[in-house]
Order: sequence, then C-alpha cells, then structure tokens
Amino acid sequence: MRIGVDYYPEHWDKSLWAADADLMAQTGVELVRLAEFAWCRLEPREGVFDFAWLDEAVALFASRGIDVVLCTPTSCPPLWLYEKHPDAVMVEKDGQRTRTGIRGHRCVNHPAVRMYCERMIEAMARHYADNKAVIAWQIDNELEAYFCFCERCNGRFREWLQAKYGSLEAVNRAYGNVVWSGEYSSWEQIQPPCGSYPHAWLNPALMLDYYRFASDNVIAFCNWQAELIRRHCPGRPVTTNVWFCEHMPDFYKEFRDLDFISYDNYPATKLPEDPEVCCSHAFHLDLMRGVKRAPFWIMEQLSGGMGCWAPMARMPEPGMIGGYALQAFAHGADTVVFFRWRTANIGAEMHWHGLIDHSNVPGRRFREFAELCRRAKELQGVQGAPIKADVAILCSFENEYAFRIQPQTNGYYYLEQLQRLHAAFTALGMNVDVIGQHEALDGYRIVCAPEMYVASDASQRLHDFAAGGGTVILTARSGVKDEHNNAVMAQLPGVYRDMAGVYAGEYAPIGYDRVQVRFEDGTAVEAGQWCDVLTAETAQVLARYDSEYFKGAAAITRNAWGEGKVYYIGTVGRQELYRRVACIAAKEAGLPIIPDLPAGVEITVRRGREGDVRFVFNHAASAQRLTLDGQALTLAPYEMLIQHLH
Ligand code: GLA
Ligand code: ZN
Repeated sequence: MRIGVDYYPEHWDKSLWAADADLMAQTGVELVRLAEFAWCRLEPREGVFDFAWLDEAVALFASRGIDVVLCTPTSCPPLWLYEKHPDAVMVEKDGQRTRTGIRGHRCVNHPAVRMYCERMIEAMARHYADNKAVIAWQIDNELEAYFCFCERCNGRFREWLQAKYGSLEAVNRAYGNVVWSGEYSSWEQIQPPCGSYPHAWLNPALMLDYYRFASDNVIAFCNWQAELIRRHCPGRPVTTNVWFCEHMPDFYKEFRDLDFISYDNYPATKLPEDPEVCCSHAFHLDLMRGVKRAPFWIMEQLSGGMGCWAPMARMPEPGMIGGYALQAFAHGADTVVFFRWRTANIGAEMHWHGLIDHSNVPGRRFREFAELCRRAKELQGVQGAPIKADVAILCSFENEYAFRIQPQTNGYYYLEQLQRLHAAFTALGMNVDVIGQHEALDGYRIVCAPEMYVASDASQRLHDFAAGGGTVILTARSGVKDEHNNAVMAQLPGVYRDMAGVYAGEYAPIGYDRVQVRFEDGTAVEAGQWCDVLTAETAQVLARYDSEYFKGAAAITRNAWGEGKVYYIGTVGRQELYRRVACIAAKEAGLPIIPDLPAGVEITVRRGREGDVRFVFNHAASAQRLTLDGQALTLAPYEMLIQHLH
C-alpha cells in the first residue's frame, strides 16, 4: 500500500517546505500531489510562465525519495484571463454568469479557455517531461458534467443532437414532441434545460439527452487534456479524480481512455444512528474498482473533520484515519493520498481539516496516520492483488440520470438500492463487484441487476447469463423505459417479464408509507417507497404483501430460467429484506457465506502473490466479537484485522 498526501506549496511560506518534506519522508509518505489550482502562480501574467517555485518543491520532495503527481491547474484559470474574456465563465440556469473568485467556474468550451489551457498544459508537460520525480498526472479537479447555458454550449448541444439524430423529424419522433406542441421546426428552437422552470416540466427525453451531452462534453475536455499531456510528457499515467455528486459524468466513459481511476474518499465521521442508512463507503470503493475492473487510487482521503461548505462535521474518531484508509486498500485502492497534509490557514477551505491542524503541531490524527504508514509497508505483497468476486451488481449512469430527471416516489434514489443489495451480500462476508451494465458477466455466479430502467443491451446478457446457470436478481422499475426515456407499452417488467416469470398488473408508489411483506416462513419485513403488485406466471412466490389494498399479492418471486434462477424484488424493503434474498440466493447457488457476522463487520479477500489476504474491518462505533474459522476475535471500533491465509 502506497501512502501519499495532497500538498499545496503555494499556500505556505517557503520556510516550511523542507520541514514538511522531512516529516513526510520520516513518516513514510511516498507521494505528493502538487499544483492543483495553482495557475495564478504558474502563469502570473499572460504568457509568462513561472515553474521555478514548483521545480524547487518537486526537487525537495524528490531528494527525499517522494514521488510527485502533477495536476493540470485548469479548474481555476487566473483572473487576468477572465478580465480579458469575461464570457469565459459558465452561465447558470438563470442565465447569469457564475461569479469569478471561486473555482471550477470556467466554460470548458470557451475558445479562450481552451487556448490558455492548451498553452498551460503544453508548457507544464514539456517542462516536466524529463523529470523522473513526476510519476503521474491528474487532470483538473473533480470534473462534473456541468450544465453551462452559455450560447456556445447551447450550440454544442444542438450539434450533438444533429450528430445523434441527423434530422429534426427524428428528434421530434424520439422525444414525442407532439405533446404540448413542442415539435421543432428549426434546430435553433431546441432549448437546453435552463430557465427558472423546474426540470420536471421539461420533456424527459430531452432531459436524458442533455445529461448525456453534458457528460460527453466534459469527457471530451478531459480526453483533450490527456492527449496534450501524453504528447508532451509521454510515459506517465494520466487520471482525473472523481466524486459522487449531482452531475456526475458517466464514469465508465470518463475513464475509458485514461490510465487509472482515482476517487476522492470522504467517509462519514459520524455513523448514522439509524441502522437502515447504508453508510459504508465499501460500496463506492467497489464501484470505483469496477469502473476499470482494476485496482485504483484514492486521490483524496479523509484526514480530518470536513467543513467549509457546511458547518464543521465531527473529527474522525480514533481508528477512522487508519481504518478507512485500510478499508479502501481492502477494496482495491493500492495508493491512498490524504487530503491534505496540513489544514489551510487561508482561503475558503480553512475548516476542511488536514492531517495536521492550523497550529502545525502534529496531534492524535497525525499519530494515527504515522501508524498507518508503518502498516502500509507490510502490505507491499498485496499491492495490485486482484479481488475475485462471485457477486456483481450492475450500475449505469443512464439510469442515475433518468431517475434524477423523474424521481419515482418519495425517498427513492437509484444508487441507494444498489447500495442496499451491496450491503446485503457484504453482510454475508462476500466480495462484491459493482460493474457497468455494459460489461460481460462471465465468471460471476450471482448478478444483481437492480432498476434496469432505461433500455440497454444488458437485457440480452442477463437472459443468457441466467439461461446458462447464473442467478439474476432483478428489482422493480425494470424494463420501464426505451432508450429515449419514453415509457414502453408493455406490462412490467417489460423485456424482463419472461425471465422473471411475473408481471406487475399495477404498481403502488407509496413513498414514505410502509407496507408489510410476509415471507413464506411467516416472518415479515417492512417495505415502502414502491410496490409492484405482482402476479406470478411461472415464478414461485417467496413473499407477499400483508397490508394495503393489495394484501396477498406477490412481492418477491423466484423463477427458473434455463439452467439458472431469476429473483424479482417488487418493492423497496428494509435492509433485512435484501439480506434474506441474498442469503437464499447465495445458499442456492452453493456459495460460501458467513451468516452470523455482526453488523458493520466487512470482510474482503485479495489474492496476494503469497496467497489470499483477508481484511476484516469493524465499521462500527463499538467493539465487535466474531468467530472466524473457529477462532474468536474482538475488533475495536474501526479496527482492521489483516490475515494472511494459506
Ligand atoms: C474536494 C476537492 C478538494 C477539496 C476537498 C475539500 O474533494 O477535490 O480540492 O476542495 O473537496 O473541500
Ligand atoms: Zn459554456
């Protein structure tokens, strides 16, 4: 495991640099990320580049054996650029330009932004091409699928539609524009979703295309940067750092042409009291590993209490600094870079805490970090080790977008249901992959395909996978939409009806109301949000609704399809419901499970060079006891036990 830190030399008096680098080296830091956001120091005046300070910083770290990741500073063009090109700032929904003096506010399509970015990247990449200390590049920072409503971006959207559909007739047909007299008779009439109207008033087919466009648009910017870096500084892997936000680019497309995944990991510093709230970042980590189906990096890791966009959150409790980093490693993050070395004393983020506080006196969190660095050295043999999972969960950004565009019912959120299935299998001690729904399914035994809402070719693969002996777990809101986000004229779950052996004669979006779901053994679990009122055709009923006007109707079923099995969960249950289904499905598939793991204990196995390594993490605020292979164990809060199996 390789440990790094995010460091901003430009924020600190030079007299601190050497002491910082010494302490890093002494503590076991092997890598620093530099130059993110530093454009105004790298090109203080138009065309005048200054790499001297950065050279000095890079050399300082290199001389202590610390590698460097450089960032393109393109998230914050300097103010002289905006002064000269006031329209290089993004335009918000209300038609107003975003104000300057913040970050991430540039319009990525503005020719001046492109021109100055190109010059900056070229100059920087050339300058460091022969510098061996620079081992990788990060593009920009947390690129989002921005909604910029400037005329240029609006024009780009129209071009994107022209390329996709060829003719206005095709757009009108795809969008069903006859509704509300919305038929286009010229391309200029096509409006992106700006203005004060809520998105729900806009055509959902147009909206889905706009989300797709916004994603493609920022990915094009990212790939353009990657090309520039590779051209002028060949041989260094290139990435960008992502997080889970409202306007996420499609990660599967975003990373297709980049060399590795990096993710900003900020697990909660206070665990939710409600055990129903799935809080484990294991889900996000597995999702990130699944983007390239390979080990990945954490580019920013929780170092202290978060605060600045909101009032300050709690500081990480004892155990969290080390525990969460090792949890990331257990799920495939071979490099973990902490955000940040020291808390900023200046600027808007001065309350987003680093490893060291404002005082510059290393404290409890730093001591824990130092201990982590020691442990990290012992994990060299596991570096790059794959994680073999029998269970996969399919994920799609098309669905994420479509559910944001049309929320289905109160409390319903796409990724949350993936997370619930993930938590259910994790609770049985199993490795779980979260993969794109475009992926092949070979090698898995169970594939969860929750909320297969927007039509995709995954449907055929799922049919084949089940027919060939696999287990598929489907849920409500599958087979609902065609590829344009229009409702399919078919009884649900549409294209999945045959393999599921059930249909929903009606459905009940019950939102925050609750319904009882009774299993065949007589026990009941509470559910809510959504109820498909199911009629089993060839399927066997595993649970029925036990309240509401549809009492007695099937809620969960299992069908034989070819050599395999297809489960259908028609509602959104409490965690126990998913756990039951996971347990039944895993046992039936003959997969080993650990049925009595205490809540919060997560087990991951990585295939090291010298055999399997088992990670046992107590993701709970209290000590947990468990028995593994006949051995009694007690784990302190956030303790990670690492066992080399033979
Ligand atoms: C994000 C950004 C960082 C920093 C942190 C904390 O993850 O990438 O630059 O702003 O949040 O606020
Ligand atoms: Zn724009």
